[in-house]
Amino acid sequence: MKNANHAILVTGGAGFIGSNFVLHWLRRRQGALVNLDLLTYAGNPGNLASLHGDSRYIPLRGDICDAELVASILREHRPALIVHFAAESHVDRSIADPGAFIHTNVQGTFTLLEQARRYWSELNEDERKAFRFLHVSTDEVYGTLAPDDPAFSETTPYAPNSPYAASKAASDHLVRAYHHTYGLPVLTTNCSNNYGPFQFPEKLIPLMILNALEGKPLPVYGDGSNVRDWLYVDDHCAAICAVLDQGRVGETYNIGGNSERKNLDVVRTICDLVDEFRPDAAIGPRDRLIKFVTDRPGHDLRYAIDASKITRELGWRPSLQFEAGLRETVSWYLENSAWIESVRTGAYRDWIRQNYEERVPR
Ligand code: NAD
Ligand code: DAU
Repeated sequence: MKNANHAILVTGGAGFIGSNFVLHWLRRRQGALVNLDLLTYAGNPGNLASLHGDSRYIPLRGDICDAELVASILREHRPALIVHFAAESHVDRSIADPGAFIHTNVQGTFTLLEQARRYWSELNEDERKAFRFLHVSTDEVYGTLAPDDPAFSETTPYAPNSPYAASKAASDHLVRAYHHTYGLPVLTTNCSNNYGPFQFPEKLIPLMILNALEGKPLPVYGDGSNVRDWLYVDDHCAAICAVLDQGRVGETYNIGGNSERKNLDVVRTICDLVDEFRPDAAIGPRDRLIKFVTDRPGHDLRYAIDASKITRELGWRPSLQFEAGLRETVSWYLENSAWIESVRTGAYRDWIRQNYEERVPR
């Protein structure tokens, strides 16, 4: 297997996708893995507790915006690969407070690219050839689709609509420029909505699972007709490995689950699963908890991904159907109440109050 023994630097590896990726990688590869993560509200070292005692795993708390820190990590650990997940990732937070998104997603990606370029330029020829900088991005950079539009492909023009999407678009452009101008061997992936274990319960699927379990209202924005394409997180991790191993340098690859669903249908399916696993006479059927609330400003109607390039070139395709993945995910949240309590801190409760208090029923 290519890259099996190479040292790798992961940023944001204590977040949702990052921690799933760290576990996925270390189950299959032998080299050291350095995880640079600031441990913001979204980062949780507990996601990686199972790696305790594994000498290949090197967790470092720090900021990707700190150029000196990034330079010293590269000098000391000499990674052959960088996989960049670290970001502010929640659209509603980007609407409430965009500054943090510009700082981490734009300035942070720039800092990482600049330090990577300096480090890479001093490697020997073989090391330079093997080096890869993989930037993990989102389908939201392409904007929104009408119901019958063709899915986003790698050539769809960028049209980001939220501060989050704009900050990710800016970071994608910087990554592209570092390849075009300096020859840095970059790869970019643009993926659709992920779901699965360790997702912070500010996002749709874990929020709805926990509220349904506890008999709380299920706040559906607008009329629930917005469509997202859903991908099980471990399938995303497998796609990133395929791009790292075989992706063509300088290219972008769209990654998707081929599972477009309306939000209201996703929430209803969650209700059915929670009713099945944890029936509760006092709560009754969970779909009665659904409440239509004030919409997200600028809410993108539909995302859909044409993943034919990564399938054709690298042989990757999603392994799990959405309904099977959702069943596993609901089970995971029901079985991991200690993890849930560890992430529902005071700051989390403040965010829930801030985001939902002013959303009136429609
Ligand atoms: P997340 O919010 O769960 O995790 C982000 C991680 O980055 C956290 O561990 C946090 O502590 C860390 N971090 C934040 N600022 C940092 C900084 N300045 N320095 C170092 N670390 C910092 O995010 P996620 O959902 O796992 O998303 C990971 C990446 O994948 C993001 O770049 C996101 O844009 C992208 N993405 C996410 C999805 C999705 O559905 N969640 C889909 C496509 C792409
Ligand atoms: O498409 C990829 C993107 O998916 C990633 O780049 C982002 O990091 C990730 O957060 C996600 O963005 P979304 O905005 O699509 O995800 P979120 O879970 O916040 O919302 C999914 C849909 O559900 C969206 O249409 C808004 C709606 N929603 C969300 C919440 C939190 C509700 O109706 N009610 C809610 O309470």
